[in-house]
Amino acid sequence: MDQERWSEVDAFVSERLGLEDETLAAALAAAEEAGLPAIQVSPPQGRLLQMLVRMQGARRVLEFGTLGGYSTIWMARALPADGRLISLEASAEYAAVARANLDRAGVGERVEIRVGPALEALPTLEEQGAGPFDLVFIDADKVNTPNYFAWAVDHARPGALIVADNVVRGGTLAEADSEDPATQAQRRLHDEIAADSRLLATTIQTVGGKSYDGFTLVWLQDG
Ligand SMILES: C[S@@+](CC[C@H](N)C(=O)[O-])C[C@H]1O[C@@H](n2cnc3c(N)ncnc32)[C@H](O)[C@@H]1O
Repeated sequence: MDQERWSEVDAFVSERLGLEDETLAAALAAAEEAGLPAIQVSPPQGRLLQMLVRMQGARRVLEFGTLGGYSTIWMARALPADGRLISLEASAEYAAVARANLDRAGVGERVEIRVGPALEALPTLEEQGAGPFDLVFIDADKVNTPNYFAWAVDHARPGALIVADNVVRGGTLAEADSEDPATQAQRRLHDEIAADSRLLATTIQTVGGKSYDGFTLVWLQDG
């Protein structure tokens, strides 16, 4: 089994389940045209995010890491008309591409992009009483995933879902002595989750067009 086969299966699933449409393809094309790195979620992962937002009945969603707005479009599509998604993005250039993509996708009114390092945006969000969030998607700078996660737990409602992407990191998650700071951050994330009895969580390993990685899914128990 190799990368080529994983990509073929992703392509099969995307085609057979109709996961991509003109709007999503246009968003990817615009991101490529603008020189953004192709590090967005895959179509099957985007559909999973859309399903989670819908199954949660989410009205308030927080995203760390907008890039060109690809995952944002998937999630925003699952929101009701009065639903709101706040997405935090460090790069003003990426945020501008995302804004155009979101508007073209017809979900622009539901999405606010805040530009700047996410950690700096959080105190303002708190002052403004943002949340409590129904779903949080963490997909920004991976060394800060545990910091974003801790904030998310404090600002999510009971019953909320938190999804953290790219936690398996080619399997290095299992290496206690890894010298990769991003890997050590994902190990700390798991320690934090394990220490909080309110949380029910798992980590799912994935292969696909994005190589070998995985995501952590955390539910803030409501009973
Ligand atoms: C993996 S990409 C996000 C992909 C996007 N969620 C998608 O699937 O379409 C990570 C994004 O996080 C942004 N980022 C990196 N460091 C950040 C920080 N400190 N605060 C906010 N965003 C950051 C990067 O500029 C990049 O756009």
